[in-house]
Order: sequence, then structure tokens, then C-alpha cells
Amino acid sequence: MTAPTTARLIDGNALAKKTRAEVARRVARLAEHGHRPGLAVILVGHNPASQVYVKHKVADCESVGMHSVLDRHPETLPEAELLARIRALNADPDIHGILVQLPLPRHIDANKVIETISPAKDVDGFHVASAGALMIGRPGFKACTPYGCMKMLESIGCDPKGKHAVVIGRSNIVGKPMAMMLLQASATVTVCHSATPDLAHHTKQADIVVVAVGKRNVLTADMVKPGAVIIDVGMNRDDHGKLCGDVDFAGVSVVAGAITPVPGGVGPMTRAMLLVNTIEAAEHALAIPNA
Ligand code: GUN
Repeated sequence: MTAPTTARLIDGNALAKKTRAEVARRVARLAEHGHRPGLAVILVGHNPASQVYVKHKVADCESVGMHSVLDRHPETLPEAELLARIRALNADPDIHGILVQLPLPRHIDANKVIETISPAKDVDGFHVASAGALMIGRPGFKACTPYGCMKMLESIGCDPKGKHAVVIGRSNIVGKPMAMMLLQASATVTVCHSATPDLAHHTKQADIVVVAVGKRNVLTADMVKPGAVIIDVGMNRDDHGKLCGDVDFAGVSVVAGAITPVPGGVGPMTRAMLLVNTIEAAEHALAIPNA
């Protein structure tokens, strides 16, 4: 009997650390010109997960020498006031990136909010102008999670060109932009979702599988082609309260060629890519390109 192969682990923490170091270098370069990149993070309400996320985002800015503003508002904030605050930040020369943490309270139209952010400061990449630019292969801010996934593929020398990539999930934040980025990188892309009748039929043919559903054990070992690269975007809790992804890691890691762990995979890279987008926004606004 041959020993089971164990997939290569794609270390998101290590790659995020490297990415942050490179951002810190670019921040220091802007400082030599007398500038400091600034990110505004807007939080409306008291969603516990959102509170943790925004705290991390602010701490990440600090860790690379960026300026950040955490703009907290009560759950009852009128939509018009939020839009007015965004317009003020659009005009603020010390702020290069604006992020409105989602979800927003029900009385606020998230699309309207996102579209009020200047595309030049849309470091989340959620604006319809950013999504459209990605769709037609023009420069623009890329959504941080799929952008981080692309960097993880690159880090292991996995070029999507000519490969068959299957994306599970079709959200505007992950699934759709992920599919577009893989297509842009010349992969053949299949997008699967909740109405896909035979998910395994598709995943078994995939060289790359990106799972972004938000449910445990969506991808199991019997659904994976040996040697495939598996990117797990999920963030769930198992029966013991332990963090886990959408992929049955124990089973799939024996079949796959490479796999991202949860935690320590996509999550840290999502955070790092927000810093990359923010430094890019600042360099562009200040007309001091990266060198
Ligand atoms: N809520 C969950 N993920 C995100 C994200 O990446 N950006 C924003 N703005 N809100 C989120």
C-alpha cells in the first residue's frame, strides 16, 4: 500500500506577512515625499462580526504605517447622513480609500452606499465601476478576497492559464469577481451555485477549485481530482466551535495537490489585499507610482 499523499499547504499567514512588508515599504516611500496613505472604515450598527473585522482593518493599517479613521455610527443612522459622510470623505485629500463595512442595517440601501463611494477610493472593489472594469479587463480595484486568492495561486506557481477552474458560489463579493479574475488569467471557468444539480460532476474535472459558499463540507475528497489546487474561502464553526472552512480539509488534503487551511489561509490574504488596494489608491492620487 502506498502512503497517502498530503497536499501542499498554502500558507496565507506567511504570504500576508510578505505582502504587508511590501506595502510598508511603499508607505515609507510615500513618507519620503511627505505623504501618508489614509483609509476610512465606516461601521454602522453593532454587528459583532463586523466590529471584529473593522478592528482588524484599522490595526492592519497601523502595522504598515498607514493612517486610518474608524467612523462608527448608530444602527439608526439615516441613509442620507451616511451618503453625506461618504461624500465628505470622497473630497478629503488625506483619505485615499473608503470602506463601508457590510452588512448595513435594513433601512439603508447598500448599493446606493457603495455607488456613492468615489471609484478612485473604492478599495473594496465593490463599486459597479470596479466590477465593470474587471469584467472588461480594464484597470480598477479588485475585490480583496478573490484578489488574495489569485495571489495565493501565484505563490505556489499555479498559473490558471489553460486550466479548468471551478468556482462554487456566485456572490458579488467573492464568486463572481473570482470567476472574472480566473477568466482574465485565461482559465476555463465554471461557476457552480445552489441550483447546480451535480456539483461533483464539475469539481471532479477541475484543476483549481475555489469554494465560497459559507457551509461546511461542501467539498469532500470524492469530489476532487487528484493533484487539484483547492482554495477555501469559507469561515464556519464546527460542532466543537472550532473555525473551519467549506472544505472537508482532512479528507480533501489527502487527494489535493495544494490546499489553503482555515484559519490561516484566505482570511489573512483578504486583509492584506485591502492594504495593497489602499497603497495603490494613494500612489495613484498622489501621482507617485510604485517603484
Ligand atoms: N463584510 C464581509 N466582508 C466584507 C468585505 O470584504 N468588505 C466590506 N466592506 N464588508 C464586508
